[in-house]
Amino acid sequence: MKKFIISVGGSIVNPGTPDIQFLNSFSRLILDLNPSQFGIVVGGGKPARIYVETMRKLGSENFSMDNAGILATRMNALLMLSALKSEQKLIPETVEQAHHLLKTQKSVVMGGTVPGHTTDTVSMLLAEISGIETVINITSVDGVYTMDPAKYRDAEKIEKLSYKEAFELSLASYTGAASNQFMDSVSLLIGMRSGIKIKIMSGSDMENIKSALEGKKFNGTVIGD
Ligand code: UTP
Repeated sequence: MKKFIISVGGSIVNPGTPDIQFLNSFSRLILDLNPSQFGIVVGGGKPARIYVETMRKLGSENFSMDNAGILATRMNALLMLSALKSEQKLIPETVEQAHHLLKTQKSVVMGGTVPGHTTDTVSMLLAEISGIETVINITSVDGVYTMDPAKYRDAEKIEKLSYKEAFELSLASYTGAASNQFMDSVSLLIGMRSGIKIKIMSGSDMENIKSALEGKKFNGTVIGD
């Protein structure tokens, strides 16, 4: 089976408390698929938001708030390692370290790296440096919408977007550390410059994720030119 990079939204790994059921079914799916190589990049979820929002109220600047978010992503990455029963015991702190691990072992799990972006960018950079052409992005929503579907009832789902369209849509919802964007804007520029296709879907349907990982038709949004 092929190689893949998956970006797993922190909001599905840890929406408040860790979602053990998701972690178990997702890791079972990956292990059953038995890919030749895979990388999983895990987001910060609710703990990241709690710390960022608290620091914002305390008067912190974005750089330090981002660092709090990064620590939350690494805690969630440890949960993913446990669920996968992985031999990996350290979370790589750079994309280069993760890439190096992928050369010597079958899989790597990581969280964030440095301030200024989210784990979406980390997953795109890991795909770029590893020569992997597709990134699967699993979130709490079943694709990209014209507006936030949790807030606007008339939001419409978009099945296909060019990098430029996705970049503009993402930029429009940027609000600093822990923004509520479907993917951060930098990640879409990485996709554009290296032609990495992005498949976005919900984390609640394992059969759908399996179809996407197998390169079959799936319910969600595809970003690419
Ligand atoms: P996430 O990758 O989880 O961001 O990182 P997100 O997409 O906003 O949240 P989810 O996963 O969809 O719930 C959380 C926060 O940590 C900081 C950013 O502030 C980000 O919003 N972060 C994360 C970084 O600064 N650098 C990184 O490499 C990763």
